[in-house]
Amino acid sequence: MTPGIRPLIAGNWKMNGSWRGSRRLADAVRDAAPALDCSLLVCPPFLHVQAVAATLLGSPVAVGGQDCHAKPSGAHTGDIGAPMLRDAGATHVLLGHSERRADHGESSALVFAKCEAALAAGLTPVVCVGETEAQRDAGHAEAVVGQQLSESLPLGFITAGGIIAYEPVWAIGTGRTPTEADIAAMHAHMRRRLVLAFGPTAELTRLLYGGSVKPSNAAAILALPDVDGALVGGASLVADDFIAIAQAVPRG
Ligand code: PGA
Repeated sequence: MTPGIRPLIAGNWKMNGSWRGSRRLADAVRDAAPALDCSLLVCPPFLHVQAVAATLLGSPVAVGGQDCHAKPSGAHTGDIGAPMLRDAGATHVLLGHSERRADHGESSALVFAKCEAALAAGLTPVVCVGETEAQRDAGHAEAVVGQQLSESLPLGFITAGGIIAYEPVWAIGTGRTPTEADIAAMHAHMRRRLVLAFGPTAELTRLLYGGSVKPSNAAAILALPDVDGALVGGASLVADDFIAIAQAVPRG
């Protein structure tokens, strides 16, 4: 945790769930939210954003998309623009998730453009960065993440409250996590890079950890310095697990 930052627990539902299932999951998170000492965000598939946003209207749980196009509208078959997400009730958007980078060849330059589109639409971007296993084994993890940060974030990112999620690619959906020392070192590295690039305002930028966060490891990870929350994939699909992770946020 970083003093002065309210932790955020975010759920990335990826390409899972039915309309009814998403509503049920959102209901459970909404009902648990008042007793939780953190901010909450859920990111359903595009098709369910509107229904989930309606379910969560008036609750403290925010809704995000999992991606957006770099252009606000136009001839881009199958894509979704940031203003559409906003219109459907989203306030946040995940950008540059490693599954987007891998499955759709997204570069940091594209993430930068998407970030600008999100900010222009009034959405808070959650930019994902992280190294592959080969890059970590070669000792390049900090350099890779540093480069992703410097290439992905436009000027207004920090002042608009943009969020970073450090997600080592090899820890996503594998049940494996870096050591606590490795997570703390990477988060300290990201904080230094951001403060150098954007100035002292970046001391209050939320830095989330993601990659196989579950109820059994959440308390230890969330207690680390400069870890201001978690981006949760698999465990966010089970309401009790997601809520248990949010309950593991250390009391500030
Ligand atoms: P995981 O996914 O929690 O299932 O590892 C995290 C993510 O991809 O955001």
